[in-house]
Amino acid sequence: MFQSLKALPEDSILGLMAKFRADPHAQKVDLGVGVFRDERGNTPVLDCVHRAETTILREQTTKSYVAPAGRAEFNTLVQSLVLGAAHPASVDGRARTVQAPGGCGALRLGAELIRKAAPQAVVHVSDPTWGNHVPLLGGSGLTLQRYPNYDPLAHSLKFDAMIDALQGCNAGDVVLLHACCHNPSGADLSPDQWAAVLEVLRRRGLVPFLDLAYQGFGDGLDADAHGLRLLARELPEALIAVSFSKNFGLYRERVGALIMIGADPGAADASMSHALQTARSIYSMPPDHGAAIVAGILADPAQRRLWETELDQMRNRIQAMRKLLSAALRARGVLEFDFIESQRGMFSLLGVNPDQVARLREKHHVYMTADSRMNIAGVMPGNVEYLADSICAVRG
Ligand code: LMR
Repeated sequence: MFQSLKALPEDSILGLMAKFRADPHAQKVDLGVGVFRDERGNTPVLDCVHRAETTILREQTTKSYVAPAGRAEFNTLVQSLVLGAAHPASVDGRARTVQAPGGCGALRLGAELIRKAAPQAVVHVSDPTWGNHVPLLGGSGLTLQRYPNYDPLAHSLKFDAMIDALQGCNAGDVVLLHACCHNPSGADLSPDQWAAVLEVLRRRGLVPFLDLAYQGFGDGLDADAHGLRLLARELPEALIAVSFSKNFGLYRERVGALIMIGADPGAADASMSHALQTARSIYSMPPDHGAAIVAGILADPAQRRLWETELDQMRNRIQAMRKLLSAALRARGVLEFDFIESQRGMFSLLGVNPDQVARLREKHHVYMTADSRMNIAGVMPGNVEYLADSICAVRG
């Protein structure tokens, strides 16, 4: 049977991790996979997570099954973290939350739900978008199309083109939007632009599917949820995929959630029942450990304060590195990279071509994905000068 299969190329993001590890060069710089790094290049376990784990180990008395929906208290706490306390969709009983195996699990669960409810719906994804969006959503059998979103050469949003494209979508289609910290561009919508997107979605009868993988990494927990809270309040339906890989540093624990907003409580209940059946038919139940950590932290005021402090520190470090890299390039007489400073979240697109990306890797040992996406958390005071020199060298 397997003889009929041809080996596939490596994943564009995960393949880079292996290449970087195998490179013995002393000055190598990892701007590849999207994980936070501290000033020494480590991806630490947060203190609040260590504390929560200590409590879990002390108090847990069973490893028996939880449920296809995961932990009930996790789902309640996550819904209020994402939508905010007393959001109208929660108050009106139109929102349901199901724990999922990471943001990827949530995206796939959402895609399967769309496929059950509206198999003919086209899902429109931004151009560019995160490399795994297309396999995750398209793998469910849905048709995907791209809407223009960002110009990597001009380093700016293509907002008018985006609105024009959305205006041409069919009623009932789904629009995948990056809630904050766009991956890969780092170019987020302003509040006015969110309001304009809302108007098109409303007029055209489109359903937003919001990917929230970086809440707290842009401008703060509430500011980063502004657009999604607006859409969830003003539109009859929405889906939100949440990841806690980055903001709790729980990457390998696979913890996330899918929030479903229905037109009324009955529709929300129906969507929940289908999400649960889908979960049962794919992985049965989500892993519990990460969700127990997140729920423990969000439920305990002192732990939550500690988490928010640690999250602020991660955000501030990335912001500081954005400044430092822009300044280092400016000091070399290159002004076109000032956009790095004003963008948000972990990523920016350098805007160089795949040959230049390959030269950066092969000659200078600087690793980024072929679209020239840089994980800004890989920049450190100790490597920024070398990095700026390398970028200038490949620009010619
Ligand atoms: C990334 O974008 O690099 C991360 O979200 C890791 C991944 O799974 O691709």
